[in-house]
Amino acid sequence: MSNRLAGKVALITGAARGMGAAEARLFVKEGAKVVVADVLDAEGRKVADDINRSHANHASYIHLDVTKLSEWESVVSSAEKQFGNLHILVNNAGILSLAGVADTTEAEWQRVVDVNQKGVWLGMKIAAPAIRRAGGGSIVNISSIYGLIGSGASAAYHATKGAVRILSKTAAAEFAPWNIRVNSVHPGIISTPMVDPLPGDLRQKVVSTGCIKREGRPEEVAYGVLFLASDEASYVTGSELVIDGGYTAL
Ligand SMILES: NC(=O)c1ccc[n+]([C@@H]2O[C@H](COP(=O)([O-])OP(=O)(O)OC[C@H]3O[C@@H](n4cnc5c(N)ncnc54)[C@H](O)[C@@H]3O)[C@@H](O)[C@H]2O)c1
Repeated sequence: MSNRLAGKVALITGAARGMGAAEARLFVKEGAKVVVADVLDAEGRKVADDINRSHANHASYIHLDVTKLSEWESVVSSAEKQFGNLHILVNNAGILSLAGVADTTEAEWQRVVDVNQKGVWLGMKIAAPAIRRAGGGSIVNISSIYGLIGSGASAAYHATKGAVRILSKTAAAEFAPWNIRVNSVHPGIISTPMVDPLPGDLRQKVVSTGCIKREGRPEEVAYGVLFLASDEASYVTGSELVIDGGYTAL
């Protein structure tokens, strides 16, 4: 199949690397124009340049710190100016924190909430009116299996990813009259720079616990995000797509 996103314009946060970059590449392959947004300017520009080498003028990089309202306003407005409309938002930017409840500092808690939770809210707040102006579309919020189950660590990460799950459901109800669907995606352990700092034995333990005994690849999540972003998912909203090799099935 191809051209599953023909004529669509997508904004993907945290798209300078990892899953966001895989989504940007796949979306363009499927006919979309993509705004790559991140705080890692050099890496983000490189992703957009690489895409444009094979698909001229299909990608553009914009600096966006998802915690900043004013940056969201200017990025959404630039996306509309450059590509005419905005149909898809993927709230993918996120940061990991490993500390448990007792060891998380107030500053660390706030930092993780600002990026993982406030960033998703701000994105929907500012992008949804633009998607409405385009006639409707899709918002995909990247949560985690850690938004569904506990682990005994990563307190702020769990709290924010759980918040993304339920925020997506209430936004689905709020935005349905605007013809905007909102869903959350819950990846298991995926080989990206985010998990590089995790100890090898922990990664091994996690993969050995699931049904499919390996880490996921960014592209394996990107295909799920593509489905939810596309019109193929026209009756899917307020739902959660788990892509975890069966980790939460057991
Ligand atoms: N890798 C995994 O195992 C895994 C599992 C479940 C969920 N997730 C989630 O998937 C998403 C993508 O993660 P990834 O694994 O590709 O990680 P990654 O670290 O490779 O990519 C995350 C991107 O987000 C960007 N980012 C961080 N703070 C930002 C900010 N304030 N504003 C804009 N961009 C910012 C980073 O610069 C980076 O490019 C995240 O939300 C993450 O929590 C990852």
